[in-house]
Amino acid sequence: MSDESMSLFSPKLAARLDVLVLKYPMRRSALVPMLLYAQDEVGYLSDAVIAEVAVRIGITELEVRNVASYYSMLRFKPAGRYNVQVCTNISCMLRGGYEIYERFQEELGIGHKGVTADGLFSLEEVECIGACSWAPAIQVNYDFHDKMTPDHVPAILAGYRQANAKAGVPSDGSLSLGWKATLPALVSHHDEVKIVSKRFGQGASQIDKYVELGGYEAAKKCLKQGPDWIIEEMKASNLRGRGGAGFPAGMKWSFVPKHSDKPKYVLVNGDESEPGTCKDHLIFLHDPHAVIEGTIIAGLAIGAKLGFIYLRGEYRYLLEIMEKAVADAYALGFLGKNIFGSETEFQIITQTGAGAYEVGEESALMESLEGKRGVPRIKPPFPAVVGLYGGPTVINNAETIATVPHVIEMGGSAFAAVGTPHNGGTRLFSISGHVERPGVYELPMGYNLKKMIYEVAGGIRGGRGLKAVIPGGSSTPVLLPDEIDIGMDFDQVGKAGSMLGSAGVVVIDDQTCIVEFALRTISFYQHESCGWCTPCREGTDWLKKSLTRFHAGFGEAKDIDNIQYLAENVLGRTFCPLGDAAAMPMLGYVKKFRKEFEDHLNGKPCPFAKHVELAVV
Ligand SMILES: Cc1cc2nc3c(=O)[nH]c(=O)nc-3n(C[C@H](O)[C@H](O)[C@H](O)COP(=O)(O)O)c2cc1C
Ligand code: SF4
Ligand code: FES
Repeated sequence: MSDESMSLFSPKLAARLDVLVLKYPMRRSALVPMLLYAQDEVGYLSDAVIAEVAVRIGITELEVRNVASYYSMLRFKPAGRYNVQVCTNISCMLRGGYEIYERFQEELGIGHKGVTADGLFSLEEVECIGACSWAPAIQVNYDFHDKMTPDHVPAILAGYRQANAKAGVPSDGSLSLGWKATLPALVSHHDEVKIVSKRFGQGASQIDKYVELGGYEAAKKCLKQGPDWIIEEMKASNLRGRGGAGFPAGMKWSFVPKHSDKPKYVLVNGDESEPGTCKDHLIFLHDPHAVIEGTIIAGLAIGAKLGFIYLRGEYRYLLEIMEKAVADAYALGFLGKNIFGSETEFQIITQTGAGAYEVGEESALMESLEGKRGVPRIKPPFPAVVGLYGGPTVINNAETIATVPHVIEMGGSAFAAVGTPHNGGTRLFSISGHVERPGVYELPMGYNLKKMIYEVAGGIRGGRGLKAVIPGGSSTPVLLPDEIDIGMDFDQVGKAGSMLGSAGVVVIDDQTCIVEFALRTISFYQHESCGWCTPCREGTDWLKKSLTRFHAGFGEAKDIDNIQYLAENVLGRTFCPLGDAAAMPMLGYVKKFRKEFEDHLNGKPCPFAKHVELAVV
């Protein structure tokens, strides 16, 4: 569709979409970003938008609708000009997310997915938006506002009203209004060992600064040393995947066949949607070139010429930072046909999602990048052998990839020595919930969890007692106060009966209702289940129903065992690990807090909480 006079879209957007379809190996990969950009301009996916996107991609309107209906950020009805999205997921909930949501409801006189009569505002209660350590957080269109209190609400609305009166909403797809949106605050503690975060706050998103600070030297070195050397360094580093499962990165890279008839790819997972986790957010913001450099090195190691950096749809401002960084790297010849003046080619494509936790699962991520619904693939074959577009693919989390240049710079063994056996280096811990100083801290692998909470993060807010800790994001089983004197690495947390996961440490004080916390957690998984397999689709739904009824005071004693029974029947019986991610924490809550469940029986009011209704659907 190059004849712009035929397009529904502005000339600027039409030109952007013309370029977008050409950048991928397969035209259809442009589908999800195209829908999002079109929606940004038109306001929603009208029939006319769907029809034009279908023509541009070369698929049927039905296929476009089928894909669009999967992603929670895409909508078929108009929203307000300013779409207020309030996160009430666990970290935000603990710090007053519901109070913020209620205040918006009062001020705007609308509920979930409502639109004000003047069409200026709409309101949504949303899942985690990747700002957990700065909770409670909201987004207005793509602008983040964090550390909110209910008293901020009128001022925020007034600010957008004023901005609208002055300038209106730009209709070029860029919705950043520049009105007082906040950037996440950086924190520090003397126990930190800053490797991955050493350039945070130093202006390293600018390529000159990154180069001045030693950037791209590791990639140049790898270009000289070759794939086998890179993989040996990576193996020696004991760098384990930071996305959740902790698989050794060097070993994963070594599984990619040396010779392949199909092109090989590197895919960086920046979907960051596990509630309690917001570390990749800071990497994209402060050190985008580390992600690019790590991607180049991964490409050199496996013999790929193309890498993708996939960011969750909510991270639009970070996508813009990444896109600029990629363009700057091309301009200096660090990316392209002849990187660093060599005969080697490496290209990078940035990509946006459109709201779906499940897309963080590696095979669902590939489906999404291929322009489909983000449902997982059956494994085997594993991505290292049959991945994106059928070619061998290395998929790594953004933090894993951003760590790679440091491994090369320090040397694998030196990096390994920073951590504990089999757990090399440091980790970015996103600490959130009821601590005095929430934030993202870089600490050596194996750092003591108790110390992390009481010293690094300043202890429990307001001098209250500690009730429980989630060590690695919402899917990891809860630990009790007497279980937290442990080292935070994959093996030690595993031995303690939980998982290090994404290192999202959520701290819960003794004034919190665990039944409500469990309910909010399962509501998330029920919402995010792709629905493909019955135990996950039905199990999460039944668990949510049971816990809703239970928390509302209508539970019966047998329901406690029933919740356990339901969770046990989801565990290990699903196509992808989302089912386990939903079931494991539920088992932990029932097992470790049975008394608290019993306290809700026989019509007794919840001893702690007041938020029974959960609007996210
Ligand atoms: C439901 C689900 C969601 C996931 N979400 C993410 C995510 O947001 N980011 C991420 O890096 N990995 C996520 N993962 C893990 C990925 O499947 C994959 O293991 C990871 O990207 C591999 O990178 P790593 O080896 O560097 O950790 C998720 C897994 C599941 C099952
Ligand atoms: S466990 Fe099954 S239904 Fe749940 S997200 Fe994975 S594939 Fe979809
Ligand atoms: S931003 Fe609210 S829970 Fe993550």
